[in-house]
Amino acid sequence: MPANESVVIRPARNLLGSIRVPGDKSISHRYAMLAALASGRSRFENYSPGADCNSTLGCVRALGCTVEREETGAVVIEGIGPQLQAPSVALDCGNSGSTMRMLSGIVAAQPFTSELVGDESLSRRPMKRVMEPLRQMGAAIVANNDCAPLRISGTRLHGLTYRVPVASAQVKTCLLFAGLLAHGQTTVEEPVPTRDHGELALRAFGAEVHRSRNTVTIAGGQALHPLDAFIPGDSSSAAFFLCAAEIFPESNLVIDGVLLNPTRSALLDVLTAMGSRVSVLRVEEQHGELVGTISLVPSASKPTEISGALTALLIDELPVLAATAPFGAGLVVRDAGELRVKESDRLTAVTRNLEAMGAQVEQTADGWRIPGGQKLHGAEIESFGDHRIAMAFAVAALRAEGDTLIHNSECVAISYPSFFADLEKLLER
Ligand code: S3P
Repeated sequence: MPANESVVIRPARNLLGSIRVPGDKSISHRYAMLAALASGRSRFENYSPGADCNSTLGCVRALGCTVEREETGAVVIEGIGPQLQAPSVALDCGNSGSTMRMLSGIVAAQPFTSELVGDESLSRRPMKRVMEPLRQMGAAIVANNDCAPLRISGTRLHGLTYRVPVASAQVKTCLLFAGLLAHGQTTVEEPVPTRDHGELALRAFGAEVHRSRNTVTIAGGQALHPLDAFIPGDSSSAAFFLCAAEIFPESNLVIDGVLLNPTRSALLDVLTAMGSRVSVLRVEEQHGELVGTISLVPSASKPTEISGALTALLIDELPVLAATAPFGAGLVVRDAGELRVKESDRLTAVTRNLEAMGAQVEQTADGWRIPGGQKLHGAEIESFGDHRIAMAFAVAALRAEGDTLIHNSECVAISYPSFFADLEKLLER
């Protein structure tokens, strides 16, 4: 990734048209990891082109699997079954928390020691949340103040019943992957429901997984079969275009082939509650995941409050909802303390950048209060190297007065390398 690029965003008059977004990041990670554990060849069309999912492919390769990317972008992985090969290099997770946390569950069950490393941002993020339960399952883990680099000495894990203290799909998935490879049964209880791609992916590869309310159970020792799949468009990437459409009264947007999993589509409910007309067309199921077409026609916005279980379901969409909230009727977000430990402290990053654009915003310990009906001006935006901050403010900049400069804009490549070009195609100036 080239460092320190800046991009200028000019204001736009409107947003019109239809788009497809790249393959979902959460599903791409999970499919690649499970493909490694299946015996035989899996093939994924529309695998996420982002650097994060590429980090996962690098790790899977280092663990002994052949990984190829076809010209079409499709990814082919030759899985080697539940016992992977000892890596001769550190497993480089780059900027990807999903890679480090979910892969920890897999390498903790291998008869060798792995070292998991990440970039500066990832090396600051909390890993105790996976270390603690994996230790209880039998793994020995050495870390640096509960952060990466992690040195995981794998073993024959035993199953565990564990209540995850934070709402985290990454932790849940880590433990389900560990549970798949463990002896006995593993049960994970989450405080509120989080995205369920781990459960759905395990089933798509042939494992039995039982869900009852907030509890998921998996029996160890199940063999996986390989999978051929088309990965649905990333709903968290689609969120940037939906929120961009929301701030232009005359806009009309269609997004095709996008993930509609109910644990990822809460933004559609929020936009509907704000008054927009959101239609969902041509829904189908692919390997347990719902996929379809969304169209959005905005309408006068209503004030919105997001808290509790809804916050957990919107965790990746909150930065763009907040960055565009001044143009609406006002937004209050609570229970979003987890945003402080994402790729950046997203509560602070959004607050600083909104203030730079002249907005009034109050940052609380676990959210924001953002009054509506505000006018923003163009400004210099700091992405803090965080892809979702760069994209959120590229969207807010479209309705600002004057140009906006987004520093370190190259970080969009973490999840969406062609974001700026795709956004430009929908704009009227
Ligand atoms: C993800 C879960 C979320 C999300 C991240 C991807 C996943 O993190 O923020 O972008 O794929 O499971 P947490 O589960 O840690 O909240």
